Amino acid sequence: MAKIKIIQKPCQKDAAKRPEVERVLANREVPEILKTFAKGRYFYIRTYGCQGNVRDEEVMAGFLSEAGFTRTYEQSKADVAVINTCAVRENAEDKIYGEIGAFKANKVRNKDFILILAGCVMGEDGVGENLIKTYPFISLVIGTHDVHKINELITDYLKEHQSIINVHSFSSEVVEQLPSVRLNDTEAFVNISYGCDKFCTYCIVPFTRGRERSRHPDDVVAECQKLVDDGYKQITLLGQNVNSYGLDLKDGTNFATLLARVAETGISRLKFLTSYPSQFNDEMIETMAKYPNIDHWLHFPVQSGSTSCLKRMGRRYTREEYLERAKKIKEMIPDMSLSTDIIVGFPGETEEEFLDTLSLAKEVGYSSAFTFIYSPRPGTPAATMEQVPPEVSHERFNRLKALVDDLTAKHSDEMIGKTFEVLVEGTSKRDENVLSGYARNGKLVNFVGPAYLTGCLVNVRILESHVYSLKGEMVEDPLVVKARDVAFHMKHDKLLREYSRLSEEIANDEEIKSLGEELVEAKKELALSMGQESHKEKKAHYEEILNKINNHPLLLNRDALHEAVEGELLAIRDILK
Ligand code: SAH
Ligand code: SF4
Ligand code: F3S
Repeated sequence: MAKIKIIQKPCQKDAAKRPEVERVLANREVPEILKTFAKGRYFYIRTYGCQGNVRDEEVMAGFLSEAGFTRTYEQSKADVAVINTCAVRENAEDKIYGEIGAFKANKVRNKDFILILAGCVMGEDGVGENLIKTYPFISLVIGTHDVHKINELITDYLKEHQSIINVHSFSSEVVEQLPSVRLNDTEAFVNISYGCDKFCTYCIVPFTRGRERSRHPDDVVAECQKLVDDGYKQITLLGQNVNSYGLDLKDGTNFATLLARVAETGISRLKFLTSYPSQFNDEMIETMAKYPNIDHWLHFPVQSGSTSCLKRMGRRYTREEYLERAKKIKEMIPDMSLSTDIIVGFPGETEEEFLDTLSLAKEVGYSSAFTFIYSPRPGTPAATMEQVPPEVSHERFNRLKALVDDLTAKHSDEMIGKTFEVLVEGTSKRDENVLSGYARNGKLVNFVGPAYLTGCLVNVRILESHVYSLKGEMVEDPLVVKARDVAFHMKHDKLLREYSRLSEEIANDEEIKSLGEELVEAKKELALSMGQESHKEKKAHYEEILNKINNHPLLLNRDALHEAVEGELLAIRDILK
């Protein structure tokens, strides 16, 4: 039997607790023993699930990098591996068992190998303990509330060499100043809140991520401003329910005001996930309409089109209320694309209720939809309700899928002939001459173009619809696009901005101005005193002023930046070549 040190094990019942929340700063100290261990060793992270997990991966990568580990994307090379799991549906969960087995080879090869299990599955009662019993080489089981303790926990493990479980089911902290290594240098995800208060009866998320806790708006805006300064083009604000953002802070903070503040950072593209229909109010629609950098694409999960089914799901709106919100949004922003999530086969779902879902989807005219077959999650109320037979769920799923395909095709067809701005993510996997990226309405667009346009915003005319993706052509010269992008980066480059700010300050500085005038005067007198007795004295006077200028703090600061700026400009010249 493996020895297990239990610091804290999950208790799903406790997840509903709402403690007073405190803002704390991350502990980023790296103990000597960890520093020594990390030297020359590699970490590997595999993430499943939603963007919340992706963001946790970036934070864990931040901590591991600060400890001195190097990242690898090769599983076999890993000295520390993290499996970041998702619990939202059964099939998401099943994957981890095979995955753990695959790491056994690492342990056989390397007795110091550390395997860490993280993510939402670890928040389920008893799962961590059972996994360690089956796979004793698991070193750590970490909960979603504990990702910022990864280095502390690895250090504990290095000292004691026994498996550790540390999974809290609720948290009284919002941790700030987290290190992070972002996975993408153009598009970033920013958490605005953690957890969820809705407790929809089918959903495990509130149990694995706890009650809703909002970050302070100043922390969110500062993170976004830094991304803008670093040249990011797109920010997606994240929360399980973004629309209730800030209400727990009880100081008047709300999502619409936060959205406006982030839009004002000047980010090129701004989106947010996920919206809760009944809390998406007029003020939020108005904010979306007001700022041109907020995308006209809204993920608006309905889950079911039937009021009675919604009630059993614990969703706090009716069919009519949902349709009213969707209508209002389209009235205020006519080119808005709406996408959704739908669950079929929810306990007790009748054929009539299912038909209500089909008719609602048609009426809204979604641009796309994620469709799921209901999957019972342990500890949630719906898991004990009367289940729909699998063959009925599958048959309904296929009918829904056919409708969603039609709606998606219709929306895509309507894009043909129009021009859309595409943020290029990279070359297509199938053809390196083809670039792929997303339009502002959330649709995937492919077009022929040079690889150097990766990360650029390109105007593309749509030629053909392939339902889930579109084929288009560039309507501008690729070099013009690249030059515009370089100009964008120069405008946002911190170094160049600091250099030009200093230059401006120097130009307006009264002291430097008068020193400059004195220098001209002194130079004149020096020239006139040539061959005369006073020459030595004039020379000393001239040098004294010159010295004052050369040692002026503003000018010294600018000189210090000079070389770096020159390097940067040469790099830009190389790009343009
Ligand atoms: N907070 C978001 C996302 C939750 S999880 C929201 O409220 O929309 C993403 C999607 O997974 C959900 O929208 C839902 O459609 C689906 N989902 C959640 N639990 C599920 C379950 N037990 N079975 C099937 N689908 C589920
Ligand atoms: Fe789950 Fe509902 Fe919260 Fe979304 S709003 S995370 S579906 S409980
Ligand atoms: Fe999955 Fe957890 Fe996200 S259950 S969907 S990783 S919040």
